[in-house]
Amino acid sequence: MSTIILGIESSCDDTSAAIIKDGVLLSNIVAGQAVHESYGGVVPELASRAHQQNIVPVVHEALKKAGVSKDEISAVAFTRGPGLMGSLLVGVSFAKGFARALDIPLIDVNHLKAHVLAHFIKEKDEEAEQPEFPFLCLLVSGGNSQIILVKSYDEMEVLGQTIDDAAGEAIDKCSKVMGLGYPGGPIIDKLARQGNPKAYTFNKPHIPGLDYSFSGLKTSFLYSLRDWIKEDPDFIENHKQDLAASLEATVVEILMDKLRKAAKQYKINQVAVAGGVSANTGLRNAFHEHARKYGWKIFIPKFGYTTDNAAMIAITGYFKYLNKDFCSIDLPAYSRVTL
Ligand code: KG4
Repeated sequence: MSTIILGIESSCDDTSAAIIKDGVLLSNIVAGQAVHESYGGVVPELASRAHQQNIVPVVHEALKKAGVSKDEISAVAFTRGPGLMGSLLVGVSFAKGFARALDIPLIDVNHLKAHVLAHFIKEKDEEAEQPEFPFLCLLVSGGNSQIILVKSYDEMEVLGQTIDDAAGEAIDKCSKVMGLGYPGGPIIDKLARQGNPKAYTFNKPHIPGLDYSFSGLKTSFLYSLRDWIKEDPDFIENHKQDLAASLEATVVEILMDKLRKAAKQYKINQVAVAGGVSANTGLRNAFHEHARKYGWKIFIPKFGYTTDNAAMIAITGYFKYLNKDFCSIDLPAYSRVTL
């Protein structure tokens, strides 16, 4: 008999549902929330309201696209955390109700682990190479910047992480200072393609070990801009491409310096990247460059799996299902948790 997992993701501002059958992805529906754009960031209350509206149609669409009926589902996997509590509660409550109604197992998924395991999502007729354990994964998003040693589907060790801002958060804040839209990451990426990455230099942190820090870069960017604007009020408009390219290059350099150090220290040459910032062109280019220069075997996710999606929740749920790693219905959501 086939194993069919319904995955549910609602940790931030994307409502998503996916169906995985025997490890193969059949559907992955994501409903974004444009409502936050005019606020320059995610508004938690608006996010949970939008999840309430989206969750039923999104699950319905995922089932329809997969050609699977509710009765065929083996288990429901859901994001338990970390994330915004009001948002998580929508997905968690839906998953619990759905599983209880069909009398099938529930599987709780750590959102961060799921980002890492997104590298194991297999689409129909796809023969993409997957990482072998152990491998390193750079998890970079709006809330995290971590270097993870992935020992198995379930066993992951954080080797280093940011002590203040996450990389995506720093990029978003610098973009906001420049008066660009939200989220800043994709805008900076686009502008950077037309700019000179060596035009400006910003402070890089001196943190021991494998930890990161991005708050100094953010402050250095802000203070430099202030000085330049004093001399030329149109400085940002006249130099936004070079500013974006130099900012992106600094973030990528900071990320890759520590990742290289980790690869050397742990003698691992399989290196993956995950999370929203893994969509960044400069970071992807740096991974390819490292593959050429240091012989790394690299794993870069498809764009659709860089941001929040239920396919990664469903594949993590599938691995847990094979281990009969189920959870009880009284399990609460958690807003903060590490791996
Ligand atoms: O993983 P994710 O979707 O969720 C959160 O952690 O909230 O990551 C979102 C982050 C944002 O900071 C966004 O600006 C950044 O990923 N991002 C990018 C790009 N696309 C998204 N950063 C740089 N370049 C991009 N192309």
